[in-house]
Amino acid sequence: MTQLIDGVKVKADILSELKNQVAELPGKPGLAVILVGDNPASKAYIGMKKKACDDLGIQSFEFLLPKTASESELMGVIDACNENPEVNGILLQMPLPKGFDEQKMLDRISPDKDVDGFHPVNVGKLLIGLETFKSCTPYGVAHLMQAHNIETEGKHVVIIGRSNIVGKPMAAILVQNELGANATVTICHSRTKNLTSITKQADIIIAAIGKPHFVTADMVGEGAVVIDVGINRVDDPSDPRGYKLVGDVDFDAVKGKTSAITPVPGGVGPMTIAMLMTNTVSAYQRQQSVVSQHQ
Ligand code: GUN
Repeated sequence: MTQLIDGVKVKADILSELKNQVAELPGKPGLAVILVGDNPASKAYIGMKKKACDDLGIQSFEFLLPKTASESELMGVIDACNENPEVNGILLQMPLPKGFDEQKMLDRISPDKDVDGFHPVNVGKLLIGLETFKSCTPYGVAHLMQAHNIETEGKHVVIIGRSNIVGKPMAAILVQNELGANATVTICHSRTKNLTSITKQADIIIAAIGKPHFVTADMVGEGAVVIDVGINRVDDPSDPRGYKLVGDVDFDAVKGKTSAITPVPGGVGPMTIAMLMTNTVSAYQRQQSVVSQHQ
């Protein structure tokens, strides 16, 4: 029997727990979301983030800049958020329009408010196993597996995709010597030779390539766990939106070979927001404890 991994339920559990936690706090955590340009998928994501904040009692601050904005204008917004004590977390929605140096912009965010875990200081801390903000999507994947009792210790996890947002931090999380990790990790990417021979050896495949239906049944060993991080828009004239969302895994073909699999939508996707909210509440708590130490 294949277990269907339910990100919607795990997200709801996390958010209801967080809501209780937020209600007990002496003040309101605050999250600043910055969007440059008008990428439709990014606009949809930031709408969902705002709604999640509203539901939990987290203050959200939205900054919408036109795609013609300059790097110095964006840095001005980031600086103001860094300095504003009501802003505990800052999220700069990726990708930025052409012409922006993404790393330079991310470097400008205070590491203490970097709830995406993209700042080099936090990436470094994650790698050496120090407490830090973990990037929301891989953190969500790790949480999702734990919530479904999927053992990672000693397992061979094959990650397909080496992005800074998913693939690399995913490997950094799962390789740590701690509960919910301790995996043997292989990262595959566009230059990997004999990809299928590697993925077939995996106990757990994590697909984060960004190509619809990239993982086919012949790439998956019998009984593997398959986690699909992909969210791809493909044309679908029968859908009122004109498109549908599909993952990086050919779900219908692969499902029967797996012991557990995430659907798209409803698998990893919901977890990203749940972990963003988790990181925002942690940011508030850490900043509060710094303030009280100085009083
Ligand atoms: N674009 C795609 N995923 C993410 C994410 O987790 N955070 C931000 N800031 N941008 C993204």
